[in-house]
Amino acid sequence: MSKKIILGISGSLRNARRGLGGHDLVQDLKNIGSREELDNYLTQEAQTHLKNFEEAGRTDELPFDEMYRNLKKAKGNKGLSNSEVALAAALWSVKEIGVDIDYLSLSEFYTESGTKDLTVLKEKIKNADGILISTPVYFGDRGSLVQTLINEIKRDDELHASIKNKIFAGIAVGAKRNGGQETALIYQLMDMMNLGMLGVGNDSETTSQYGGTGLAGDIGTMPKDTYGLNTAMGTGRRIARTVKMISMGEGKKLVNNPRVLFWILQDSNDKALKFVNNLPADFISEIDPEIINVSNKYIMRCIACDVCPTHIDLDEEYRCIIKSKKDDLEDIHKNLLDYDAIIPVVYSNKNATDFHSNYQRFLERTRYLRRGDYVFSDTVVAPLILEEIGTNDNMHIRVTTSMIRHHTVMYAPITIHTLNDVALNPQGLSENLKDLKNTIRDVSRGRLVSYSEEVNHLKYNPVGYVLSAVKDREDEKLSAREKMIENRIDRVKKIRSERIR
Ligand SMILES: Cc1cc2nc3c(=O)[nH]c(=O)nc-3n(C[C@H](O)[C@H](O)[C@H](O)COP(=O)(O)O)c2cc1C
Repeated sequence: MSKKIILGISGSLRNARRGLGGHDLVQDLKNIGSREELDNYLTQEAQTHLKNFEEAGRTDELPFDEMYRNLKKAKGNKGLSNSEVALAAALWSVKEIGVDIDYLSLSEFYTESGTKDLTVLKEKIKNADGILISTPVYFGDRGSLVQTLINEIKRDDELHASIKNKIFAGIAVGAKRNGGQETALIYQLMDMMNLGMLGVGNDSETTSQYGGTGLAGDIGTMPKDTYGLNTAMGTGRRIARTVKMISMGEGKKLVNNPRVLFWILQDSNDKALKFVNNLPADFISEIDPEIINVSNKYIMRCIACDVCPTHIDLDEEYRCIIKSKKDDLEDIHKNLLDYDAIIPVVYSNKNATDFHSNYQRFLERTRYLRRGDYVFSDTVVAPLILEEIGTNDNMHIRVTTSMIRHHTVMYAPITIHTLNDVALNPQGLSENLKDLKNTIRDVSRGRLVSYSEEVNHLKYNPVGYVLSAVKDREDEKLSAREKMIENRIDRVKKIRSERIR
């Protein structure tokens, strides 16, 4: 099996590295052996970047535009901007997982004077198995260089085809604590998924969110944000492990149909249910579908307890504190495990008559499954959104951002617009579902092979929940967690022996 490659793309307008400077960065990162060494390297490079600015005219108080022109004349072989520092940290973590790394700066190709020859950019993107974009936050969004790349991919069929079903993850660095790191990450994630990539966030060690979030404004300050660097590194590990996991299934065969679980979470007059029951036959006949109509169940509200899950136990155990007979989740729990894919289905309309939504309640109640060591880890999740045109409910984004926190592999939302109950864009649905089915097969094959060997990195880290953390340590004394992980491995091994050839 050839070594897989993650390409780190810098979307910074004041990035330090270009051309051979990017190559040198990759070599430097490959030679760094420890976190301490990495921290020293990043601090030194960030300081060098500050010096770059001083030499380009800051010391002489030159106007910024003049200084900027001087910087662009530099060789591009030393220093790192803030979002480049975060990217370098992530790439170092990628290589620590045993996946190869490459680097690309967008400003080298999209210059003030126009677009340069894109041969190298396209080659690097085509050669990569996963793409990690680090962007500065500009107006709560990804910067214009990233936007330019997105437009380029949309325009160029070959480039577009070359990223299909590859893995994407993002990092965003902003000057303020709530400067829009998360919005930038979400927009970038939605864009790249809509272009055909599979989205992942940061890893469970850094609490599985939307990617890396850095807090740094002034030049040279990113290395001080240890928390941000950790999330960037967690993003590097997550994308590397996902690529590696999928590659472990290459050459193997999934002998039966993928098991796909539909959650109908929001509906009106059974429109979503009917839609799912009438999905194209060529899709349904090649999966083993199971439907849970959550919209007509009784789902009690989460009580926001601080002991979630109630205890560490086997995945099969329902471990939410709510035990009311009225509540249907305990019953639903029995049918949540070991699917290859989950398709959350929601219907939205403008006049919410006969409208049943358990969407938010249900998602909140799945917290024990997330904190129970990420039961849905690496399951493919493909949101199916039915929306009366003009409703603008943002369900495609909400389902994606909630479900990615379950440490899943996200497939782009499939959105069907309706008017007077007629689907306006049914064209392409069959093709889309065929691609989804193939994706589920590829990811599941890799998951079943790799999970039967290594799942310890999925341990939930209850950051911000001190009570849980104390309880966690006690439970760990009882080896409950080890038992749970062992049981999970045994279960996956059994499934693997039945389903993988
Ligand atoms: C046009 C512009 C808009 C910006 N908007 C934001 C913003 O919305 N939120 C924020 O936190 N920082 C914002 N910043 C600050 C940058 O994100 C921050 O300085 C970052 O460290 C730059 O990364 P770089 O050094 O890799 O280019 C903005 C900067 C510029 C130039």
